[in-house]
Formats: sequence, structure tokens, C-alpha cells
Amino acid sequence: MIEIKDLHKKFGKNQVLSGIDLEIKEGGIFAILGPNGSGKTTLIKSILGMVIPNKGNIIVAGNSIKKTWKYREGIDYLPQIANFPGNLRVRELIRMIKDLRRRSADEDRLIKMFKLEPFLDKKLSTLSGGTKQKVNIVLTFMFDSTLIILDEPTTGLDPASLIHLKRLIQEEKIKGKTILITSHIMQFVAEIADTIVYILEGKIYFKGSVEELKAKTKQTDLEHAIAAITTTTDHA
Ligand SMILES: Nc1ncnc2c1ncn2[C@@H]1O[C@H](COP(=O)(O)OP(=O)(O)O)[C@@H](O)[C@H]1O
Ligand SMILES: [Mg+2]
Repeated sequence: MIEIKDLHKKFGKNQVLSGIDLEIKEGGIFAILGPNGSGKTTLIKSILGMVIPNKGNIIVAGNSIKKTWKYREGIDYLPQIANFPGNLRVRELIRMIKDLRRRSADEDRLIKMFKLEPFLDKKLSTLSGGTKQKVNIVLTFMFDSTLIILDEPTTGLDPASLIHLKRLIQEEKIKGKTILITSHIMQFVAEIADTIVYILEGKIYFKGSVEELKAKTKQTDLEHAIAAITTTTDHA
């Protein structure tokens, strides 16, 4: 589904990604972990063509993404920071995104699930962070693409919404979709991801299943396992 080859990216003197090689196979939940500032969002934005790498190649669904943008229509993307126009109402924003993408959407079910009915006629500038994130989730999951990219989807969510989000992601997986997700909440990732990669200092430190990581580090929970790999020199 996605192949990343020798990806390098720096912003000024800040070398963020230094030789990322990664294959994300079709179907299943793939999580990218790493500390703040380790380049998770930069990697995701590179896949989407929103960040231009200094070196390397990215192939999505068999085609190099250089100088093309058509492939993005086949991706449902939840940005880490959604800069919604504050003077629009929630209902208007949903309408606008549907018009822009010109595809059928199934927003009513999601509006109900996240109890957004009372907010539909409110301006986005008046919403709390958690409610904005629920709107962000509706805008992403109302479409039906085979590739879904979620950048820190859990941000600001209350426990009930977290459960709904987890269920939604698992439903999409059952449909055979590929879900690429970044999260700093280890518990969330441990429960849903089939494969995880851990990025540190611009390189991939570990790639495998949660179980493999636990076995490799002889730790029983993901947080301790991650802490253990970052203190060894045994690169995966
Ligand atoms: N547009 C940009 N211009 C300059 N520096 C950037 C830009 N985007 C990200 N960075 C820097 O790149 C590094 C990685 O950022 P990011 O990919 O957002 O990390 P993460 O998502 O893992 O927290 C950080 O040091 C950040 O400040
Ligand atoms: Mg990020």
C-alpha cells in the first residue's frame, strides 16, 4: 500500500528524518510511535505530499507520488491540528467538505455516535478542543477510502468518545482497509495496532507487533517496552 525508501527531511539545520525505510502492507492497523518532535507528523505529511522530502521516494498504491496529487483523493486524512474556519457552523463545514470531495458521505451515523447534534448550528470558533476533534473525526470517517491516515486522533477526547473511535477504527479494519495512525497514548495503540514502528532521532528503532516488542524487551507493557528499546543499542 505504501513504500517509503530512504526518506530524508530537514527543516533548516534540523534533520528530522534521516533515512526512513518502511513498507506498510495493505489491510490492518499500523501505528507510528515516537516522542514529541520525532518526526511522526513530518512522515505522514510526506506521504500526503504536504512536505517535500530532501531525499528518498514514496510509493502509494504502486505509484511514486512525485509531481502528482491525484492519489490523495483516495486517502481519508485526519490532521493533528485542524485549522477550521472559525466563522463557519459545524453543519456548513461538513457540507463544504462534502462538496469539495464530491463523494458520497455517511455523516449522520457519526454525528449521532459522537453526540454532535447540539453543536451543528454552532460556529467552530465557539467549540471546545474535544468537540472540534469530534468534528475532525466525522469529517474523516464519513468517507469510504481504502487508506485512512490519522495523526493523533485521540487528542482531547473523553473516555466515551475514545471507545467510539476505537470501535470505528476496528470496523474499518474489518472492511479490509489500511489505517495508519500516530498516537502518544500507548494503551490506545497497544489495544488496536497490528504493527508498530518506533521513530527516534530520525530513524526507525523498532518495527513489529506489540507482542514482538514485549518479547524482545522482556517487558509486559508497551510503555516499559518502549522505554527499554530506547536505552539499548540494539537497533531493529
Ligand atoms: N514546517 C516546519 N518548519 C520547520 N520545522 C518544522 C516544521 N514542521 C516540523 N518541524 C520540526 O520538525 C520536528 C518534527 O516535528 P513533527 O513531525 O511535528 O514531530 P511529531 O509529530 O513526532 O511530534 C520538530 O523539531 C519540529 O519543530
Ligand atoms: Mg505530530
